[in-house]
Amino acid sequence: MMGKQILITGGAGFVGSTLSIGLKQRYPNYRVIALDNLRRRGSELNLARLKAAEVEFVHGDIRNPEDLVEFTQLDFILDASADPSVLSGINSPVMPLIQSNLNGTVNCLELAQRTGAAFIFLSTSRIYPIKNLESATFEELETRFVWKDEQKLRGISSKGVREDFPLEGSRSFYGSTKLASELLITEYNELKGLKTIINRCGVISGPWQMGKVDQGVLVLWLARHFFKGELCYIGYGGTGKQMRDVLHAHDLLNLIDHQIHHLEMYNNQTINVGGGLDCSFSLMELTALCQEVTGNTISIKPVMENRTADVRIYVSDCSYLNKVNKHAWKPNKTMKDLVADTFEWMKANENNLKNILN
Ligand SMILES: NC(=O)c1ccc[n+]([C@@H]2O[C@H](COP(=O)([O-])OP(=O)(O)OC[C@H]3O[C@@H](n4cnc5c(N)ncnc54)[C@H](O)[C@@H]3O)[C@@H](O)[C@H]2O)c1
Repeated sequence: MMGKQILITGGAGFVGSTLSIGLKQRYPNYRVIALDNLRRRGSELNLARLKAAEVEFVHGDIRNPEDLVEFTQLDFILDASADPSVLSGINSPVMPLIQSNLNGTVNCLELAQRTGAAFIFLSTSRIYPIKNLESATFEELETRFVWKDEQKLRGISSKGVREDFPLEGSRSFYGSTKLASELLITEYNELKGLKTIINRCGVISGPWQMGKVDQGVLVLWLARHFFKGELCYIGYGGTGKQMRDVLHAHDLLNLIDHQIHHLEMYNNQTINVGGGLDCSFSLMELTALCQEVTGNTISIKPVMENRTADVRIYVSDCSYLNKVNKHAWKPNKTMKDLVADTFEWMKANENNLKNILN
């Protein structure tokens, strides 16, 4: 019997390929289709993996509605195609970002409506305004900055940011295209009857992320250690104490799997998704982990000036997610697992990766 039909846009990207391959392996009778325009450098390396896993690949672009015409019946669309860099549009034209991250989302929503699919969106913690995050009170510990428990703004504590954190203010062009997409998704849910889920993800990482200077910091850090390059601690005093939570892509796969199979539980929900404080790192701590696993120590220079659109700390408070799904999911992978898994992948694919990550 034919199982569910799932279209994953950005299906050759880091998150998209992890979800495509993972779902097909778990449910061999599902039809899993990965659509990608192969714009991200390194996504082409995933084509052989998709093929080996019997995921169907369609070379297409979500900006072009005609590339989506061939799909007539789908149960789910997982939207994982975007330009995911927070720096996009700041020193480059804005329109390509809007076309890809906003118009593209609308094309996928129209496709969901036409095919009767439920729509699962990978949004970002970057929808939270920068000045509000930067105004949070923090402490400087030996290896990291941490938020204090008492805060002036609502929706934030030492445990992280909740969904009711104030949304007024600038958040980067990237964050705005994602928030604008969220608003439209809510309208398609309310007014067009689509089933939808919005996952506001913090940093996601793991094997097959093609980390680069403006996106994918954990892989960038590990790759520079592995290939013996150089790095900088940019901003916040140049000590590398800025901090993020991070989710292993396999833990995200577990959550999406649960969402697909418990749609009613999550329908019309907007939820923060991340590793939380238990799976978090500062750059200084990441350096130590990378040194340990690669055995290499590299030059890391301090740069005093903050990077545009950067934030000192981001941690996802996932308590609302726990409430929505009654604690059905929690991240299993630790920081050590994440670094070790990614290191094993780098070692096993060194030749292919050296020109992309180096
Ligand atoms: N990786 C993270 O830390 C993170 C965090 C929060 C949210 N997200 C979101 O998760 C999603 C996936 O991110 P990722 O890390 O896998 O990025 P990625 O760049 O590895 O993957 C995105 C894929 O989409 C493809 N793509 C881009 N524009 C397209 C278009 N117009 N049509 C078809 N394909 C297109 C790219 O070629 C790439 O393969 C994005 O929506 C991103 O905003 C990622």
